[in-house]
Amino acid sequence: MRKIYINGNGPLHGTVKISGAKNAALAILAATILISGKTTIRNVPNLLDIKTIIRVLRALGIRAEYSACQPNTVEIWNDDVKHVAPYELVTKMRASFFIIGPILARKGLAKVPLPGGCAIGSRPVDLHIKGLEALGAKVRIEHGFVIVKAEKLVGAKFYLDFPSVGATEAVMMAATLAEGETIIENAAREPEIVDLANFLNKAGAKIVGAGTEEIKITGVGRLSAIEYSVIPDRIEAGTYVVALAVTGGEGIIEAVVPEHLESTLRKLQEIGVGIKIQDKKIHVSVANGLKAADVKTLPYPGFPTDMQPQMALLLTLAKGTSVITETVFENRFMHINEFKRMGADIKLEGQSAIISGVAELSGAPVKVSDLRAGAALVCAGLVAKGETIIEDRDHHIERGYENLEAKLKALGAQIRIV
Ligand code: UD1
Repeated sequence: MRKIYINGNGPLHGTVKISGAKNAALAILAATILISGKTTIRNVPNLLDIKTIIRVLRALGIRAEYSACQPNTVEIWNDDVKHVAPYELVTKMRASFFIIGPILARKGLAKVPLPGGCAIGSRPVDLHIKGLEALGAKVRIEHGFVIVKAEKLVGAKFYLDFPSVGATEAVMMAATLAEGETIIENAAREPEIVDLANFLNKAGAKIVGAGTEEIKITGVGRLSAIEYSVIPDRIEAGTYVVALAVTGGEGIIEAVVPEHLESTLRKLQEIGVGIKIQDKKIHVSVANGLKAADVKTLPYPGFPTDMQPQMALLLTLAKGTSVITETVFENRFMHINEFKRMGADIKLEGQSAIISGVAELSGAPVKVSDLRAGAALVCAGLVAKGETIIEDRDHHIERGYENLEAKLKALGAQIRIV
């Protein structure tokens, strides 16, 4: 079990370089299932979730490993793929379910366990399944496994009831090798979807419209092995903006695509955080304290649910009453009770958290329920008076933050991960 010891140590200062996007890298690594030969992916963060998807690829018979000589590079040698994905890995991380699309496209058959992942709601996979059915797959669920079969996938028009990131990715990957044209309507528009489409197009796919509500995929016979570099992680960047802002510090977040953080940065400005953008850098400062604001999570380009816990922390220390409404996941307020143990004044009403700002938090022992809740608790520890001890039984924080301890120490934080 991981324990993180943090002592509130005043404002953070300095520069932090952002790693590659975990969620983009996970989808792109899954997409290498479609490609024969050697593929090289750069700017891949060194994280527990990435190690899990690498283990999934290996279990499918693919050789995949971090390069010994080039940092943050994963090399994949793929000749053939098995169609059964292992229960112990897929149930560890929900993102590994996305492999169902590429395995089906490559083999005509896939057997993948129903997924696990963060404890933030029931998170079904009905939309992935509906999408694959629209392409002509026959689906059955047996003994906890989803079994999909199609002698041939045929392009189709498919409307997503909700713009699910994972379902958009699974269907896009499967449609890449389908016969004819597929149109995904009400598709997710996240930057990670665009990155996956750019990767697939570089490998020879024909995808247009990624980043909009309608994605058109014209099937091709095969994809070719390529080299590709993953986009920066917008949620890691947003988390460090909050870490600087909540401590009243000042610093620079570099190696980011600021447009990917637009809704987050606008909300931070509304709260009173000074934000200046210069090329791939965000300069963060706080001059006059923080003020309350209302936040509603939405699919991209709306405010990201993955920044909700961090924003809840910031609003806990803002002057006035704020309301956060979570519309993407039905059970994503587990961090609130931990904040309350540190002195926060928050009431939960259904899908909303009503936050009355407090002047300060006090260090306490707290528990991590999911990845972003963990990140928010680390930020809380940075600003709380005294020591905060964060118990991260399932290593959630390591799933999403590369070199967290070193990056925060470089900003002046007193943090120790044991
Ligand atoms: C991805 C991200 C995750 C982020 C989330 C929303 C990855 C690896 N993870 O997760 O960090 O929090 O997008 O931005 O990219 N849903 C269904 N049926 C389905 C699929 C989803 O009802 O078949 C629901 C989910 O329960 C949830 C909502 O749709 O309430 C959003 O889920 P989705 O966009 O699919 O999230 P993920 O792809 O799992």
